Amino acid sequence: MADTPTPNHVHFHSAGVSVVFATGEDRLPRLLYWGASLGELSDAELGAIETAQMPPFDHNPNDQVWNVSILPEFEAGWLGRPGLEGSRDGRDWSPAFRVVGTSVHRDAPTEDGRTADRLRAVARDDHAELSLELTVDLLSTGLLRARASVTNTGEAYRVDAVRIVLPVPSLADELLDFTGRHLMERVPQRCAFPVGLHAREQRGGRTGLDAAHLLIAGRGGFGFRDGEVWGAHVAFSGNQSLYAERLYNGARALGGGELLQSGEIVLARGESYTSPWFYGAYGDGLDEMAARFHAHVRSGRAYPAGPRPVVVNSWEAVYFNHDIDVLGELVDRAAEVGAERFVLDDGWFGSRRDDHSGLGDWTVSPEVWPDGLHPLIKRVKERGMDFGLWVEPEMVNLDSDLARAHPEWLFSVGGRVGYSSRYQHVLDLTHPGAYAHIRDALLALLDEYDIAYLKWDHNRTLVEAGHAPEGRPAIHGQTLAVYRLMDELRAAHAGLEIESCASGSGRVDLGILEHVQRVWGSDTNDPVERQQINRYLKLLVPPELIGAHVGPSPSHTTGRTQTLQFRAQTAVWCHLGIEIDLRTVSPEEFAQLAAWVAFYREHRHLLHGGTVVNADHPDDAIWVSGVVSPDHREAWYGVATLRRSVTWPPGPARLPGLAEEVRYVATLPDGIQPAATGMPLPEWTRAPRAMTGAVLGRAGVALPRLLPETGQVIHAREA
Ligand code: GLA
Repeated sequence: MADTPTPNHVHFHSAGVSVVFATGEDRLPRLLYWGASLGELSDAELGAIETAQMPPFDHNPNDQVWNVSILPEFEAGWLGRPGLEGSRDGRDWSPAFRVVGTSVHRDAPTEDGRTADRLRAVARDDHAELSLELTVDLLSTGLLRARASVTNTGEAYRVDAVRIVLPVPSLADELLDFTGRHLMERVPQRCAFPVGLHAREQRGGRTGLDAAHLLIAGRGGFGFRDGEVWGAHVAFSGNQSLYAERLYNGARALGGGELLQSGEIVLARGESYTSPWFYGAYGDGLDEMAARFHAHVRSGRAYPAGPRPVVVNSWEAVYFNHDIDVLGELVDRAAEVGAERFVLDDGWFGSRRDDHSGLGDWTVSPEVWPDGLHPLIKRVKERGMDFGLWVEPEMVNLDSDLARAHPEWLFSVGGRVGYSSRYQHVLDLTHPGAYAHIRDALLALLDEYDIAYLKWDHNRTLVEAGHAPEGRPAIHGQTLAVYRLMDELRAAHAGLEIESCASGSGRVDLGILEHVQRVWGSDTNDPVERQQINRYLKLLVPPELIGAHVGPSPSHTTGRTQTLQFRAQTAVWCHLGIEIDLRTVSPEEFAQLAAWVAFYREHRHLLHGGTVVNADHPDDAIWVSGVVSPDHREAWYGVATLRRSVTWPPGPARLPGLAEEVRYVATLPDGIQPAATGMPLPEWTRAPRAMTGAVLGRAGVALPRLLPETGQVIHAREA
């Protein structure tokens, strides 16, 4: 780590990305450049960037806001969303911070175990009686992130919003973000970058099934492989705001932060509020942007050790019908198919025979499990698997012993607990008693049973989440309490893994990924839906942390009937699991499934450690994606035909990501391909020959003739 005196400009460059800040005078840091690396630059050359960008002088500061700070202030002439919103009874709402200390650390270890070039600015507004600490990291992965900490030095100060704002260049004229719903997360939406505000806000106390997930601004028509993009993300699992703002004066920026309810944060003298990290990822194409997020998550302290075990989960096999004999048989079949983890889903505790009652009572139901979970776990362990259990710690049914004993632990406003959703309400973990009760109940389970993994669910949004008896908004505290609870359990039980599930991928963000080892992709196992969900979840989350299961056919959520081959070929790229009732599968299908499990186990080191790539195939009915090994010697690609194409054949598909000059042999591996469909294979598959990465990546290969809703796997290995 090298401490250097702060110059007027700071240039960090790492993993192909440069950021240049103006830090002169006593103003908060202004981001002059963020994009592809600019190489080494002298102080004079950095100064020239600022001069070069200065527009001709204008008399009105509003008309020439070209280098506002990353915590924008009205004082500088900014008329967009301000960086700090708040007041002291109507006073001190427009702070003008003056920097009193700046430090620059290069290659420094961060609190979360990573390495970054860090710029820190400490500032004060003595008139407003506020101080501010801004921390900006360019991480070794090329990700940019910033957060702000506001401290009140006067009488009570109400904080309404703290936002980080990262300017993007005017060539970024198209936006991409995501929406969705239960069983259909991560639906992309694109639009021109409008003048005004494009805001995506979440008020449900979790990241959201409909979360923006990422807000990406880029050069018009950007794709996976090219087109400059700047992606933004709020690393927080509670209420949040993520937006793109374009002003009449030409300023364009991506901004975001926690979305605070009225009166949620009131700072007494000496108290501080710290915003979540706001992340920015640059890339030439979405794949390059995603690779930076993947490298970041893979370098986190929570990132799981060891290969991702094949899971068999009981949910779609038996739902709430817990029968020891049936589940025992399922365990045997799971081991036979090659699974390594058996997960007992909802229905094992309290009076939980359906979703009307029992949530909150985290003791094993003696009615269903007279000897506890011991016999089942013993069978799981004897078959060489580890054991996982479903929990939903933040939730209660009103019909539960917990809700009857402690109604004051439920969120409420004005004495009302609000409407129920899936017959459940939310436990307020900011009540020390509620927190301790749930922690102890979960610890007791972990102490009694050999549990390797918790599937941690969160099946409703938080509405009117007020802390009783006053009803103060408490989602901020609730979110931090959940993080703390997860960490406490993992500290007490080394090696415990947690999956973040919220009716699917409703709580997936870089905040929760500092605490969990898996996220559930979606409650739909239908591969047509999952192709899309997995593809776009992977823009943020590396595939090995995304739970994807082979479900039954017809699909329980959409009614579509699909081949086992397509279901398995869709799931195998992520953290593989199976949710079929394996007792009912035909011997042929069982053998096919076992072949897919074997494929996954043999190749997961590459599938889970390589670079994810997606081809921009011109025919949107055909998706080609893959994973390339870090040394570029090998790659696996999956082709999915989502529907029938208007014209046929669709033309060669590019196999992206290979080293241009290296020669590869591409093949269709045996054993896991679609059952004989009578469809002809392309010529190149009959007599494979060596082709360079440039040829495979630019000219491409003809695709096998595939029926709709089928797929094909292509292997490329250095010749
Ligand atoms: C949620 C989860 C499912 C399952 C059920 C159990 O819907 O997303 O996977 O665990 O709850 O009730």
